[in-house]
Amino acid sequence: MSAFGYRGGELWVEEVPVREIAEGAGTPVYIYSASAIEARVRDLQRAFGSLPVRLCYAVKANPHLAVLRLLARLGMGAETVSGGEIERALAAGIPPERIVFSGVGKEEEELRFAIARGVLQINVESRDELRLAGALAREMGRSAAVALRINPAVEASTHEKIQTGREGDKFGIPIAEAREAFLEAQACPGLVPVGLHVHVGSQILDIHSFARSYGIAAELFETLRADGVPLVRLDLGGGFGIPYRPEDRGFDLDGLAALLEAVWDRLRCELILEPGRLVVGEAGVLLTRVLARKERGVRRWLVVDAGMHTLLRPALYDAWHGIRPVREPASAQEWEEVEVVGPICESGDVLGRGRRLPVLQRGDLVVLEAVGAYGATMASSYNSRPRAAEVLVRGRRWDIIKPRRPARAEFADERVPSWIEEEGPAGEG
Ligand code: LLP
Repeated sequence: MSAFGYRGGELWVEEVPVREIAEGAGTPVYIYSASAIEARVRDLQRAFGSLPVRLCYAVKANPHLAVLRLLARLGMGAETVSGGEIERALAAGIPPERIVFSGVGKEEEELRFAIARGVLQINVESRDELRLAGALAREMGRSAAVALRINPAVEASTHEKIQTGREGDKFGIPIAEAREAFLEAQACPGLVPVGLHVHVGSQILDIHSFARSYGIAAELFETLRADGVPLVRLDLGGGFGIPYRPEDRGFDLDGLAALLEAVWDRLRCELILEPGRLVVGEAGVLLTRVLARKERGVRRWLVVDAGMHTLLRPALYDAWHGIRPVREPASAQEWEEVEVVGPICESGDVLGRGRRLPVLQRGDLVVLEAVGAYGATMASSYNSRPRAAEVLVRGRRWDIIKPRRPARAEFADERVPSWIEEEGPAGEG
């Protein structure tokens, strides 16, 4: 059952009317349902029940500490792509031995930090990084468990900008070089090669994309074992899609479980999954208020207080998010087709094109759906607009987990060098 739905003519989240949150926290505001997040984790845990699958939540999807804390309490690990994400995961109580450190470019300091904290494994994406990790581990008198991320050269069925496993993508070590890189890792003091990593993209609903890349990874895994590399773990990444449009199917968890079962039968090793979007995506909405309704000829616009600075996905990927009014449309309602746009001074600041909505007025509230993943975390303060607040709901209670950041805070740490004043009026000096 969805955590969001109409009751008595109004939209509710769990046991809270959404309007109450608008009044208490202001808009725009991201609202997450704790129960929806937990329910999804339980679905995942149930689906892979008897298999040795370690779930490492992709922190980038929604890195809020409260979200990470909920997940930590459910026994989830974390997949991180920066020192900052490792710090967040640790701060939320996820122990280092449940943290994977991935990412296509890692700074020396980040690698040192990961090695010092003893993370489960570092997913290495280049031979430069492999050598650096080895050198740092030796210098620190430690050893670093590494997995190599391979680029399997496969096309996944998803948006162009979130593909990561094609030959021309920057990610991973080309499959043709992987064996040699592995043998180098094995010979490198300070490194313990423990596994392989593959991740071919995000928002993938077609199970065949996973079948192909998992098959390629499993084959290499077998070859390396035959070479005498004692691999123990296969990290199969994330990328599991969610239904954004009403006609989309949900993710086929049983299909995924069957694939994992087959991989397990073949390799008998520990498996890691790195779901991000699937865990939090559908558990969040973005609540926004109409600032103006405009008409010109046959065109209609609703200007709302959220925009590309609050939710970048529509502008960046032409992503589609459901848009619903907070007041339930009555049957005799007058409807119209509108473009829902934000307040930013860019023509690309469109949240939804050609949407059928009841005729709304300034002050009315609407929500954008399925924004729990890659929403707040991709926001900016462009146009010096404050970032949205974030709220977490559990049953009847709701808490502001991140207050709306005042615009002043954005420039509080900007410095004006004294020479600008000393030079006198512009043009002299
Ligand atoms: N593992 C690795 C190595 C990743 O690069 C990613 C996502 C994940 C796991 C988690 O993928 P998920 O299960 O969430 O699909 N900003 C884009 C998505 C970028 C995904 C980047 N990597 C969007 O809004 O659609």
